[in-house]
Amino acid sequence: MSISWTPDDGEVRSARWISDGGAPAPRRVVTADSRIGVAAAYRHICEGTALLWSGDYPSARQLLASLGKRAEPRRQPKADTLTEAFHLQRREQARRTRILSLLLVPYEDGWTIPLKRAPEVAEACEQAYGEFGDGLAAGSLRELLGVVGAYEWRRKGVEIPVLGGDRIHPHYGVFSPVRGEYLDLAADARLRAPRVAFDIGTGTGVLAALLARRGVGRVVATDLDPRAVACARENVDRLGVGAQVDVQQADLFPKGRADLIVCNPPWLPARPRTRLDHAVYDPDSSFLRRFLAELPEHLEPGGEAWLLISDLGERLGLRGESELADAIEAAGLEVTGRETTRPRHGRANDRDDPLYEARSKEITSLWRLAVRS
Ligand SMILES: C[S@@+](CC[C@H](N)C(=O)[O-])C[C@H]1O[C@@H](n2cnc3c(N)ncnc32)[C@H](O)[C@@H]1O
Repeated sequence: MSISWTPDDGEVRSARWISDGGAPAPRRVVTADSRIGVAAAYRHICEGTALLWSGDYPSARQLLASLGKRAEPRRQPKADTLTEAFHLQRREQARRTRILSLLLVPYEDGWTIPLKRAPEVAEACEQAYGEFGDGLAAGSLRELLGVVGAYEWRRKGVEIPVLGGDRIHPHYGVFSPVRGEYLDLAADARLRAPRVAFDIGTGTGVLAALLARRGVGRVVATDLDPRAVACARENVDRLGVGAQVDVQQADLFPKGRADLIVCNPPWLPARPRTRLDHAVYDPDSSFLRRFLAELPEHLEPGGEAWLLISDLGERLGLRGESELADAIEAAGLEVTGRETTRPRHGRANDRDDPLYEARSKEITSLWRLAVRS
């Protein structure tokens, strides 16, 4: 995909379109610099015209911040139900992302930004997008800021108390274990000395590493996303459990059976909009249903599964009250135990959040499941 525009000299130019979020290339592009006012810039992007920045880099950041303020909803539309409030909130976020992503920066020669006072972003971009290739490219400044933030995040890592304070280093686009509640559940759950465990949808590999640290001799961890696979491999090696943990790219289960199967699935039944959304949103609960339906074929006799899942989907009316129980029953499984925890993160206490009613009551559970005898 590419974008094209006509600068003052009248000669049409074009550039490769960079978007990890999967945004389509804007069809109308004009160049802009500090002479454009916020009002005119806002009008352009609301009409769907992208602004390819040619001024200095700090001014582009300033303009993005001002556009962000303008793009705030003037009045939050009133929702009758939490389900409606959830959909309105997501629609609003998508609207903001769509318009704020229309302020573009150019790239050339190995991810250099050819603007005055531009920072060095080559390593961050290479981690997120891969090798630069040839010619000129352009992408959203907003996405670039996310890429740079993720690069810092990966470099510093996230401290994980249940790993004795060791750090997990999330890669760009991989689900980051910043909320520790589900990790506490997995760290405290009684473990019946499994020989082999599976970690389905391993993300950064944090649960696989935890199981290995808890003494499981062999852990097979899977993820569908190649970035997660690379990230998990790097983390388990760094944590010194690489010999115990085999990370594979797979759709749900690896081949074979295990005594323990752990899974922290995408937990909200809604449509993912971007690549990053696939860790959180599970349309029609299809991951969850498939995981439960296929579980019996992958459990050793007498084995058990730990399903780590929040009830936010039920509280928001996105999943029926009995859907999880029905799917467990239909798969020939039974619940042999349940441990629960409450969220500690700030959003659960934010009374201004339209979803406060659901978030403040959210419960995350570790469901112990076994094949029904
Ligand atoms: C909520 S995240 C959990 C990540 C990690 N296990 C943790 O606890 O931090 C869900 C993960 O499932 C992965 N995933 C989504 N669909 C998948 C599939 N069909 N097969 C394997 N993994 C999948 C996502 O890429 C994501 O890493």
